[in-house]
Amino acid sequence: MGLGYVGSAAAAGLSKSGHDVLGLDVDRGRVADYQQGRVHIIEPDLPEMIQSSLRTGKLRFLHNDDVSEELGDLVLIATGTPPSANGAADLSQVRTALRWLRDRVSPGTVVVMKSTVPPGTGMNIVENELVSTGIRYVSVPEFLREGNAMHDWFHPDRIVVGADDTESAEVAKAMHTGIDAPFLVTDITSAELIKYASNAFLATKISFINEIASLCDIVGASIDDVTHGVAMDPRIGGASMRAGVGYGGSCFPKDVRALDYLALTNGHNFELLRSAITVNNRQRLLPLHALRERFGRLSGIKVAVLGLSFKPGTGDMREAPSVDLIQALTEDNAEISTYDPVVNSPARAGLTENVRVCSGIQESVEGAQAIVVMTEWGEIIKADWDALSQSMELPKFLFDGRNCLDRDKMIGHGLEYRGVGRNGAVRRGVAPDLCQRARTE
Ligand code: UDX
Repeated sequence: MGLGYVGSAAAAGLSKSGHDVLGLDVDRGRVADYQQGRVHIIEPDLPEMIQSSLRTGKLRFLHNDDVSEELGDLVLIATGTPPSANGAADLSQVRTALRWLRDRVSPGTVVVMKSTVPPGTGMNIVENELVSTGIRYVSVPEFLREGNAMHDWFHPDRIVVGADDTESAEVAKAMHTGIDAPFLVTDITSAELIKYASNAFLATKISFINEIASLCDIVGASIDDVTHGVAMDPRIGGASMRAGVGYGGSCFPKDVRALDYLALTNGHNFELLRSAITVNNRQRLLPLHALRERFGRLSGIKVAVLGLSFKPGTGDMREAPSVDLIQALTEDNAEISTYDPVVNSPARAGLTENVRVCSGIQESVEGAQAIVVMTEWGEIIKADWDALSQSMELPKFLFDGRNCLDRDKMIGHGLEYRGVGRNGAVRRGVAPDLCQRARTE
């Protein structure tokens, strides 16, 4: 139930593994598209897998209102849990789905909760909404990364199942047939918390390295070298350690805020999480402050923003750092042009009319006095930066918000380069190739 990112990936993955899958949604247009194999999200391999399962007959799609049959042995809920104004997860879609399915399944059916719901929700559902129905409930949190969803579906780090009884856990295990991954069974609430704790930890790790990047700029160190050296400790590792304009997307910001809200409403002040949020909010405006520092007033200054989606490989604009930056630049009356390989129309970008959405990097950069890179798309990294520099106007300021460009090469192209935690470091006396060797060893 629910054909968003998680539901679509689950429908594709489960049908590919040989299960008979019925994909349900309340959006008629989306269902009609899926029935034709047209997928509304940008996700590698997803359309092909859905089209293939449609052909083999393992996968069908229906609007909820058109369901006349009894649902199967297992009903997977993957409806949205968007943030409400106070930061709490809005569970209305999940509750509507539960009410709807209650009359359409027989006792013994297992409801698998894939939507991210706050710890305690599952037990509440079991004790109130499903009590005396004979319907079983398991929590199977989802750890898919956008842009890697199908890979992550078939090669997860772990499968976590929160269950109340062995039989339900066995059904959840059977659902993952053919997938080779550690299988962890816990109680329902712990499984729910594993999901939040994982996302909150990764988000905190990103904010931590962003704080170190700020220090690098202050003391004159290089964030690349510092991160490299720190990440060599296997207890720390290099994942989620890229400094930049901060995390966005449909999960980290929402889940971190929801966990903070849950803690607070239960009398616990989760200070570490608060700081992670504060740092992340600050990071997305780093380019604004750098531009103000360089240009003074930004009114009439031509700024090209390259990359809009919250990360490469997706067209998802939810909580994308670019949105906050562009809004702030607009308020400063900067003249903004943008380019993103996927988010290439004003409607997709959801931007105001006075922001120009261009169809190529060169077009967006033409005549600009400054460039800000917000998403590390391969196309942006590999662009002809010499040509881009030549088509710009002085001072050719470049803010690399993802530290994805080679600083020395950019300076060589005549650009005034700024990165995140890359602005103070100078290598004195040591041959660059020795530094490079140390890096790769
Ligand atoms: C994340 C989790 O990784 C996944 O397990 C969970 O199920 C959903 O949330 P996703 O949102 O797809 O997945 O993206 P991820 O690749 O984790 O990146 C999230 C954000 O953090 C992006 O905006 C990315 O640019 C940023 N990020 C990531 C950094 O700023 N630095 C990093 O080192 C890593």
